[in-house]
Amino acid sequence: MSPQANPPRVLVVNGPNLDLLGRREPEVYGTDTLDVLVDRCRRVAGELGLEVDARQSNHEGVLIDAVHEAMTGHGGVIINPGGYTHTSVALRDALAALPVPVVEIHLSNVHAREAFRSHSYVSPVATAVIAGAGVTGYDLALRFLAERIVRRT
Ligand code: DQA
Repeated sequence: MSPQANPPRVLVVNGPNLDLLGRREPEVYGTDTLDVLVDRCRRVAGELGLEVDARQSNHEGVLIDAVHEAMTGHGGVIINPGGYTHTSVALRDALAALPVPVVEIHLSNVHAREAFRSHSYVSPVATAVIAGAGVTGYDLALRFLAERIVRRT
């Protein structure tokens, strides 16, 4: 796709402990670092006619503030809420308020792990959920949002 002057922007939010990617349980989460993951997202987004804004925090309130950015500035959100997936009503409420599609993503297949990981506060307010595809899941999420955003603009 040829580059656009102002491509639609997608917010990619990574939650707690994802700053440790590459070093944290690599047998579960893979060996790519967060920087590698974000660079990959930017490249794939560019190929799809999108632009990526990336945020990562270990703090619930900071993640909620990041999600609020997408109230106005973004065409869609990809979020890996990390452990907050399974605990945070407040993050879910922030995502539910968004007027744009939300993709919940997990590197690991949360349903094949401990029972507590099978429950997500986020899934009921997400447009789509991807789990277990590793970093490729972010590519898939971007493709999905490109279909939803680019083809409609
Ligand atoms: C995770 C799965 C969560 O259960 C866990 O707390 C994470 C990462 C994943 O990407 O597979 O931090 O969201």
